[in-house]
Amino acid sequence: MDRQKRSDWKYRASAVLFTLLIAGSAIGCSSDKLAESTKTSDTQAAAQSPKRTSEEEERIRSEALAKIAEGNGQNETEPTAQADPDQVVEADAAGSEPVQENGLFYKDGILIVNKKYSVPADYAPGVDPTAQAQVTQLLQDMASQGMNVSYDTSNFRSYDTQSGLYFGYVGAYGQAEADTFSARPGYSEHQTGLAFDLKDSAGNLITSPTEAQWLLDNSWKYGFIVRYQEGKEAITGYQAEPWHLRYIGDRAQEIAQSGLTLEEFLGVEGGDYVD
Ligand code: DAL
Ligand code: ZN
Repeated sequence: MDRQKRSDWKYRASAVLFTLLIAGSAIGCSSDKLAESTKTSDTQAAAQSPKRTSEEEERIRSEALAKIAEGNGQNETEPTAQADPDQVVEADAAGSEPVQENGLFYKDGILIVNKKYSVPADYAPGVDPTAQAQVTQLLQDMASQGMNVSYDTSNFRSYDTQSGLYFGYVGAYGQAEADTFSARPGYSEHQTGLAFDLKDSAGNLITSPTEAQWLLDNSWKYGFIVRYQEGKEAITGYQAEPWHLRYIGDRAQEIAQSGLTLEEFLGVEGGDYVD
């Protein structure tokens, strides 16, 4: 991340945090309500907001605490990549670094977003229509097989929506813990419109073994991969999320059946933030 972009991110982060603090103190509310005060029309995103006190929330919290206890953080020395929208796009090639195109990073034609590769703050494509159609078909098939799923997914989240969620979690759990399960603004796959969090009929994120295993075994048939898996935390940068699907398209089968993370498959850097 170059110095200008870094200071821009910090300015945005500070501004959002400042806004949250002011809003909270103005109405005398707790950190839970702070997150609620940032809620936008994207009600899907609110499903992961700290205002929820569901069992799922507690599970995420306890898993995050366990991960911290294990000390799964990494000390990366290379700078976090931040696209320069003005940079000339280079031809992609096997073994090459990701290429930049309009502020986005691609490797082998696949958009990569993780703690090393961000997206511009103003990138707001909305939900990808092809991915939406595919996830709808996937959910129909899961439901027809008797699985407990909802058509209400958490999908596209703008930079500002992600800011509200992330800083809400930071307020509730502290930054180190929040970073294990929530992306900083500009670093979430949800900002691409290609990610979907699946929920059950009660609105809880999917964690049950039957549904989770079905997704691992079958989501590639619809062009998806389960992005954050057990045992891959140090590579993806996040604790496992059996509910988070990332739309890839035709190459999903190859990736899913490789048993590799997207980072490993593409040969791109993952892991933790630089700072
Ligand atoms: N929960 C995932 C990592 C996100 O916030 O995008
Ligand atoms: Zn997600």
